[in-house]
Amino acid sequence: MVESVYMAKKRVLSGIRATGRLHLGNYLGAVKGMLVLQDNPDYETFYMVADLHTLTTPYSPRELKNNTREVVMDYLSAGLDPEKSTIFIQSYVPEHVELAYLFSTAVSIARMQHLPTYKEKVKQYPQNVNVGLLNYPILMAADILAYKAPLVPTGIDQEPHLEITREIARKMNEKYGLSFPEPTRFVTEGEYVPSLTGEGKMAKTVEGSSIYLTDSLEAIKEKLAKTPTDSGRGEKVPEKGGVATLLELVELFEGGAEREKYEKMYLGEGIRYSELKEKLAQAIYKEIEPIQKRRAVLEKDPSYVERVLEDGAKRARAVARGTLDEVKKSMGLI
Ligand code: TYM
Repeated sequence: MVESVYMAKKRVLSGIRATGRLHLGNYLGAVKGMLVLQDNPDYETFYMVADLHTLTTPYSPRELKNNTREVVMDYLSAGLDPEKSTIFIQSYVPEHVELAYLFSTAVSIARMQHLPTYKEKVKQYPQNVNVGLLNYPILMAADILAYKAPLVPTGIDQEPHLEITREIARKMNEKYGLSFPEPTRFVTEGEYVPSLTGEGKMAKTVEGSSIYLTDSLEAIKEKLAKTPTDSGRGEKVPEKGGVATLLELVELFEGGAEREKYEKMYLGEGIRYSELKEKLAQAIYKEIEPIQKRRAVLEKDPSYVERVLEDGAKRARAVARGTLDEVKKSMGLI
C-alpha cells in the first residue's frame, strides 16, 4: 500500500521537429498519445519541439523561430497542458547535445549509415548529406534518455530511431554500469496516417499531402476533393492509393463501422465519393474545430507561451542535468 503511494512516476518524452504547423499525421500519430499519457497520473510527461533536429535538412533560419512557435501553439491548442506536462524547446536544454556527443562514442558509423531513415534522407537531399543527419538518431536517443523515459508516443516511422535508442541504452549500461531503460513506442490508432495524394504517408514535404490542424472546413473539402478515386466499385477494396487513404481516414475519424459500410458498398452498389468526402470533411473538422478555438484564444496572449517555455526549460534542465552528470561520472569525466 504505502509503497504504491511513493512509487516514482514513469517518465515519457516525445518531440516534433520545428517545421511549422502540425498535420493530422502528427496529431494522430504523436499528439494524441501525448495527451493520453499526460492525463494518466502514473506518468510524468516531457514534450518538446525538436528545433535542433530541424537543422539537418534544408530550412530557413529566418523562419525557424516562428516554426518552433507554431508547433508550441499547436501543442497547447491540442490540449497539452503546462500544469501537467513539461513543454519545452530542445535547444533551450543544451544537456541533450552534450549527452548526444557522449552517446556517439558508443555507436558505429556503419550502424548509423544503415538506418532506413538515414537512407531516405540521403535520397531526398543528395546535396545535403551532412554529419548532423547521421547523428540525428543519437540526438534523439539523448532526448529520450536524458529523462530515462521508457515510453515514447510517436508514429510508426520513428521505430528505427527507437531501436537505436535501445541499443545505445544497452551499450551505455553494459560499458559504464548505467541503468537506462530500453524505451518503447506508445502506439496510437493513427500510427500511420496516409497521404491525401494516395502515395506514402502524410508529410509536410509533399505538396497536397496533408490536412493541417488549422485548416478551415472549406480547405479540408478542397483538399479531399483532390484525393484520387476510382469508379467507386470493384471486386476488391483497394489497399493502396487514394481510395485506401480515404477509407483509413474514415476509420480514424468516423469509426470502424463506417469504414465497413463503405467497404460493403464498394463490393456492391458502389461508393459515391462526393458524399463520402463531404461527411469525412465534416468529421475531421468537428475534431479540430475546438483546437482552432483554443488557438485563437492563445494567440491573444503571446507572453503566456513565453512563460510556459521558460518554465518548461527550467524543469527539463533540472532532470537532464542530473542524467548528464551521472553519465559523465560513469565515463570518468568528473
Ligand atoms: P517528425 O517531426 O517527423 O514527426 C513528429 C511526429 O509525428 C509523427 N508522424 C506521423 N504519425 C503518423 N502518420 C504520419 N503520416 C506521420 N507523420 C509524422 C511522427 O512519427 C512523430 O511522432 N525524430 C522525430 C522528432 C524527435 C523525437 C525525439 C520524437 C526528436 N527527438 C524524441 C520522439 C522522441 C521526428 O522527426 O518527428
